Amino acid sequence: MIFSLGSLQLKSNLFLSPLAGYTNLPFRLVIREIGGVDLCTTDLVNARSLLEQNSKALKLIESNEQDSPLSVQLFGGVKEEMRDAAIILVEKGVDSIDVNMGCPVPKVTKTGGGASMMTELPKTQELIRAMVDAVDVPITAKMRLGWDDQNLTAPDLARALEDAGVAAVFVHGRTRAQGFDGSVNLDGIRKVVEAVENIPVIGNGDVTTPEAAAHMIEKTGCDGISAGRGAFYNPWIFLHTQNFLQSGELPPEPSFDERMRVLRRHYDLMVEVFGEERGSMQFRKVAPWYSKRFGPVKPFNLAMVRISSRIDFEKAVADYLEWRKPFLDDQGELLARYQLPPMVASFMQEEDEHQAKQRTKIAVPKGPVEVW
Ligand SMILES: Cc1cc2nc3c(=O)[nH]c(=O)nc-3n(C[C@H](O)[C@H](O)[C@H](O)COP(=O)(O)O)c2cc1C
Repeated sequence: MIFSLGSLQLKSNLFLSPLAGYTNLPFRLVIREIGGVDLCTTDLVNARSLLEQNSKALKLIESNEQDSPLSVQLFGGVKEEMRDAAIILVEKGVDSIDVNMGCPVPKVTKTGGGASMMTELPKTQELIRAMVDAVDVPITAKMRLGWDDQNLTAPDLARALEDAGVAAVFVHGRTRAQGFDGSVNLDGIRKVVEAVENIPVIGNGDVTTPEAAAHMIEKTGCDGISAGRGAFYNPWIFLHTQNFLQSGELPPEPSFDERMRVLRRHYDLMVEVFGEERGSMQFRKVAPWYSKRFGPVKPFNLAMVRISSRIDFEKAVADYLEWRKPFLDDQGELLARYQLPPMVASFMQEEDEHQAKQRTKIAVPKGPVEVW
């Protein structure tokens, strides 16, 4: 499938939504290797920090040849800074630049960036125009439906930004005031689709299965979807969604061996990008998402949240593969519970308690967004 994002021809209409702290280079490479996605976006980067060559900002935009095509997401409310940061990014070879207009965190909105951009249409339009005029890569905007239920400005903003030259808009179907509460308002996304004339609108929010992606496209008429948390819970989501949209068929779930292979690959990339100790420590929060579909897993998770080196990682994997054997049949498939030998079955209560305590969702801030 070819998807036109301004001058950029993409192979997929499925996108990785930025998740600060998660959508780093190793994760982007993992999902690119699995497939189904083309343009991926970095975590949000402060335009001013980039201009100051702040080392943390530079680390956020770290990329390589395989991490392509790449969009960097900028935030900031100062036109000149956003424009100059865009110029720097293009000099570095970035393929597209996304402007954050949805972040509800006061630290970001107070600077005139993030969701506050949805409240000042003329100023936002001018800022985007300055960026579009300064660079020849597509500029996109990622917004929510509005500041709150009384100010659902997304349709007007999207239209104004189309006039200013954005190549596409990404819409998370919640308001700033909603944070991550409640459900995604598909009707709100549809209004944005109806408001623009030619540019694509990408729907976003709570897409965690291929069926949810198809449902969003059907109900809103959007041109594609982006997934953030869903991609982290299930890195196969883009490949499976692409298959599902094309054929109506859901591919089989990846095998245990395939999940383990990708987990290992993710670990290797974390070490490559962040160094052995930091990469290992950061992998502590990654491994439990893979292991959710491993079956009995308590000792693995307990070992993984303590790793600080490759030796620790390899030992955790090897010990787990050994521990898991009694749960398997001759073909290496998990036995049903009733088939487990009594000694092994006795682990299961402990295992159930462990799994009940595991996070089922990526932590999001709670309570009124004003105090996040
Ligand atoms: C932990 C976390 C970090 C996020 N960081 C960003 C970010 O840096 N930039 C941004 O535009 N949105 C960010 N978002 C919002 C997501 O991109 C996305 O719009 C939202 O999570 C809804 O989509 P999803 O249900 O597919 O995750 C973040 C969300 C979460 C949960």
